[in-house]
Amino acid sequence: MAKMWAGRTAGATDKMADDFNSSISFDSRMYRQDITGSMAHAAMLGAKGIISPDEAEKLIAGLEQILADIESGALPINMECEDIHMFVEQVLTERLGDVGKKLHTARSRNDQVALDLRMNLREEANEIISLLKELVGAMLVRVKQNKTTIMPGYTHLQRAQPITFAHHLLAYCMMLLRDIDRFGDALKRMNVSPIGCCALAGTTYDTDRYFEAERLGFDGICMNSIDGVSDRDFCVEFVSCCSVLMMHLSRLSEEIILWSSWEFKFIELSDAYTTGSSIMPQKKNPDMAELIRGKTGRVYGDLMGILTVLKGLPLAYNKDMQEDKEGIFDAVDTVKMCIGIMTPMIETMTVLPENMKRAAQEGFINATDLADYLVKKGMPFRTAYKISGTLVAECIKRRCVLEDIPIDEYKNYSELFCDDIYNEIALETCVAKRISLGGTSLESCEKQIEFVEKQLNN
Ligand code: ARG
Repeated sequence: MAKMWAGRTAGATDKMADDFNSSISFDSRMYRQDITGSMAHAAMLGAKGIISPDEAEKLIAGLEQILADIESGALPINMECEDIHMFVEQVLTERLGDVGKKLHTARSRNDQVALDLRMNLREEANEIISLLKELVGAMLVRVKQNKTTIMPGYTHLQRAQPITFAHHLLAYCMMLLRDIDRFGDALKRMNVSPIGCCALAGTTYDTDRYFEAERLGFDGICMNSIDGVSDRDFCVEFVSCCSVLMMHLSRLSEEIILWSSWEFKFIELSDAYTTGSSIMPQKKNPDMAELIRGKTGRVYGDLMGILTVLKGLPLAYNKDMQEDKEGIFDAVDTVKMCIGIMTPMIETMTVLPENMKRAAQEGFINATDLADYLVKKGMPFRTAYKISGTLVAECIKRRCVLEDIPIDEYKNYSELFCDDIYNEIALETCVAKRISLGGTSLESCEKQIEFVEKQLNN
């Protein structure tokens, strides 16, 4: 196929070099942004008298038709073209003749690709934000259903203190809210327009960059043309937001996997989000959660990829930068898929409160409360801690729990023990008493729910 840039060179490029050079297989997904960007450019050229108003109109109508034809399937994207920018311009020229050739006045593919990518990622970031809001919404439903569901809280994966399942899920809500915030933050810096930077140095035409920026919904423009075409910080930031989010989803997945195991059995996943084994008839595997955990690695890889492509690149545009897209799009697709699976998986899982409670009863997770009981009666904490620990050791020896020790025996350890100790170390009391802000008590959790809901409606 004849190259639009043929002129300086006359000889045909090698077929393998052509394929190597081509990006249309992965940048064609930006066709909409490319065409919308071009429409704004044509409008600006017309408004500034760089082309005639009539020519601008023709270009805009032609571009609109191309967009409609691509979307209806009437115009298949030609994968022989070098990239999506060339494809659109070529079809436009085929359809409009010489007028089509005026579109690329006062612009370069360097600012064009930067524009398309910013517009594309802007949409994707907004979509990820809405998906995340849905996920947090789904979590909140489970939170509200489990305000009094007691489970062991862990440190070092050792049973530590009683908490509620609601409290635990709320922790994930907080992480996801930060993710939403992070994407919103990245959007701020992403949402400035590079169009008009041209190849790198700006242009001799009397353009209006604000005109285009405004039409395309940008908050401002890249103030240095060399930076405008060289900058891919917004990609790095975007994939880094994706990476942090994936890290959160992966931690949640890991817990879902643990909780679904026979060792825990705190939840049972819906059949819709599990698979069986080809050999072991009894198996119900949490493959989806495992895949989310696994796919976290590829998103981290995408982040390393883009960082490494940019490292040491001289200004301004270099073809290396074409390598930005596949990793970024992979991160986009992976993240959207993972949230899309996580949300219904959370919605449909069965919570098994009796098993959570049983686990909570077994791990001496009220030992801190037993110590606190003595402290509140005047004993120094370290002394109380020692007594509580000794009692736990005694229970382990006897294969019983703290609740089983008779009061007379308690009194051998300290005269401060009274009958009220049993109520004090009941799991329900342990939870109810943790009223500090952010803590596990019902009223503290209610405040957290309120916080999450407020953030969601922001
Ligand atoms: N396909 C290219 C990319 O993705 C578009 C920009 C090409 N510019 C150039 N001068 N070769 O980066």
